[in-house]
Amino acid sequence: MKAVLFDGKGSVRLGEVPKPKLLAGKDAIVRITHAAICGSDLNILKGKIVLEKDGIMGHEGAGVVEEVGPDVKKYKPGDRVVLSYTVQCGECASCRDGLFVFCEHGGMFGHGAQWGGHGGAHAEYLRIPFADAVLEPIPDGLTEEQVLFVGDILSTGYMASEYGSIKPGDVVAVFGAGPVGLCTVAAARLWGPSVLVSVDTLDYRLEAAKRLGADVTINAARTNAAEEIKKMTGGKGCDVAIEAVGSAETLDGCLGSVKGGGNISIVGVFPFAKEMSIRQILRQQLQIRAGRANVVHMARLMSLIGRGKLDLTPLITHRMPLADAVEAYRIFGSRSENVIKVILNP
Ligand SMILES: NC(=O)c1ccc[n+]([C@@H]2O[C@H](COP(=O)([O-])OP(=O)(O)OC[C@H]3O[C@@H](n4cnc5c(N)ncnc54)[C@H](O)[C@@H]3O)[C@@H](O)[C@H]2O)c1
Ligand SMILES: [Zn+2]
Ligand SMILES: [Zn+2]
Repeated sequence: MKAVLFDGKGSVRLGEVPKPKLLAGKDAIVRITHAAICGSDLNILKGKIVLEKDGIMGHEGAGVVEEVGPDVKKYKPGDRVVLSYTVQCGECASCRDGLFVFCEHGGMFGHGAQWGGHGGAHAEYLRIPFADAVLEPIPDGLTEEQVLFVGDILSTGYMASEYGSIKPGDVVAVFGAGPVGLCTVAAARLWGPSVLVSVDTLDYRLEAAKRLGADVTINAARTNAAEEIKKMTGGKGCDVAIEAVGSAETLDGCLGSVKGGGNISIVGVFPFAKEMSIRQILRQQLQIRAGRANVVHMARLMSLIGRGKLDLTPLITHRMPLADAVEAYRIFGSRSENVIKVILNP
């Protein structure tokens, strides 16, 4: 089959590899019809996340069940499914607590062995371990493009807004309007903020944030976001600040814009240790929550999509065949052509 392979040095190539086979009773084989490139895929190219040379890239995907092992109960060949980026057994103590990120048998698609790596979704087929716990059925009437993001970035954005403990009427600021920040804006809207602020340095992404429900946008390349947010709240600060970039500037922006007694939620991944002053946290009386996306709400998110309350399809700026994956990675990685999200169709 065709697959996008990491060359071990900083780029990807299209290669021919054996089609995956069922290896365990709870496995399924999915024929991937839709996959997306994620910022984490770029971190593999930059060497920040390890994937072995010739490893298959990709962890965001949807498709059709091709084959199931004897112990798969929920799926049969022909079912349309979306996958979570994490692999979880669904049965260990952590999974039973709803903490898939701490699954004893956990792992990730398209990541190296140290991350409990499995095959990648940027391929024609993918073996899904623990298929009953990793896959989610796509409801009739919804397209793969509508639901593709529930397995990663939309779950991250939903968790980011949940960890912010937003209350109706809150002023909420989301730092970062990349795919994750935009999903956070769309999810934050669900909790009923009075003012939803989106902060980024790229105007075209701020325009997308407006389309997804932001009331106010701030371009941090031109305006000091924290000062602006303080000004618009009469000096008080926002109730909730969400970090969806993973940079020192945006974390400082959150700390500088949130009110005393406010909440900070962090989903940006910091490629370095960023120190925070416990003295400042204590004096500002802050609640801070952070985490790696725990993909437990796929069905809930699909029902919101199905009811027309969430629509992330405006994120899709490019649709390309898998054969053009090298060019797709170039566009996504260079943020050219006003790219937000690239869909690959194997
Ligand atoms: N917690 C999780 O489980 C999880 C899951 C997926 C992604 N992530 C992380 O979320 C972060 C965002 O992911 P993404 O795919 O949207 O990445 P991205 O790089 O596409 O988006 C980041 C955005 O931040 C903006 N930005 C950069 N510097 C800024 C500044 N100083 N002020 C305002 N905006 C600034 C960029 O213009 C860009 O639009 C990354 O750190 C990623 O690793 C976390
Ligand atoms: Zn991802
Ligand atoms: Zn488990």
